[in-house]
Amino acid sequence: MEKIEQKIKKIEEEVKQQIQIINDLKQLEALRIKYLGRKGELTNILRSLKDLSLEQRKIIGPKAQQLKQELDKLISLKKEDLEKRNLIPKIDLTKPGKRLKLGHLHPLTLVEQKMRQIFSGMNFSVVDGPELENEYYNFDALNFPPNHPAREMQDTFWIKQEKTSNSKQNFLLRTHTSPVQVRFMEKYNPPFQIIVPGKVFRNEAIDAGHEINFYQLEGLVVGKNINLANFKFIIEEFFNKFFKGEKIEFRYRPSYFPFVEPGLEVIIKYQGRWFEIAGAGMVHKHVFEYAHYNPKEFQGFAFGMGIDRLAMIKYKIPDIRLFYSGDLRFINQF
Ligand code: FA5
Repeated sequence: MEKIEQKIKKIEEEVKQQIQIINDLKQLEALRIKYLGRKGELTNILRSLKDLSLEQRKIIGPKAQQLKQELDKLISLKKEDLEKRNLIPKIDLTKPGKRLKLGHLHPLTLVEQKMRQIFSGMNFSVVDGPELENEYYNFDALNFPPNHPAREMQDTFWIKQEKTSNSKQNFLLRTHTSPVQVRFMEKYNPPFQIIVPGKVFRNEAIDAGHEINFYQLEGLVVGKNINLANFKFIIEEFFNKFFKGEKIEFRYRPSYFPFVEPGLEVIIKYQGRWFEIAGAGMVHKHVFEYAHYNPKEFQGFAFGMGIDRLAMIKYKIPDIRLFYSGDLRFINQF
């Protein structure tokens, strides 16, 4: 009899110990069958009770029954617990992570950043201005007289005014970054040297070399005794740094912009080809007058270059439209 009691105790210990480490329903069912199944160890004991004497049966019977009930309960609780756990999605913490695809900067941004960096290195400050501009800053204050044909040089997107608007100004999308010249001079006194990178707009036919929106970088240096030799030094220094290690030749050709006198165009020879790269000149005295500077006291030079054109030359891009196409096959090459 003692032997049977020992067996019951052993079953109790084994089941209670094993049930703790079980973590799936299959193992739990195997455990149940092993001890409580039709031929299970505890079932066998219960079945053999009938062979015992009445005395023994009285002692062992209730113990075995009690254990069966207890184990039934333990197993069904464990089953509930495992079923609940199965509802929670399994996370495999050892699995390698998904590699996130990082984006990168647009080629125009890369070129603009490089330009900013070079000019900052020459002590230029970076200045900003509005893209929605008024006629005064875009044309009048830059010495484009009203109805003068020079305005035709830059086809313009005019903004329709509300009928109720009291504004005497006509608004437009700026056709160049030059309006920031007067805006800046109205607020600050010389000497200074600034660059103005930004987006500009022109209402013109789109082709491989022309877009209706593109980027320019304006430069303005004002102080005493400023002359074109200073400009020549700055612009050549810039291009030699921009196309580092490449041989660049420079040509300066007279040109006309109403806001400079004299005006000129900068042409560079890069890898055997000549490119018109910037407009420039000495700031016109009328522009200084609009800004309330004394033209006898100060001189300055200004220049404006197309960032898109520079990017096209640097990366050998044949068509300006590619920059704005959103075509990933193009963008992903940078
Ligand atoms: C101007 O816009 C003058 N404001 C530049 C200037 C500044 C002259 C200061 C003197 C003093 P222009 O219209 O040439 O000039 O344009 C300057 C540059 O912008 C061009 O050399 C070219 O690189 C670029 N550009 C002009 N039109 C387009 C266009 N439709 N698409 C792309 N780039 C253009």
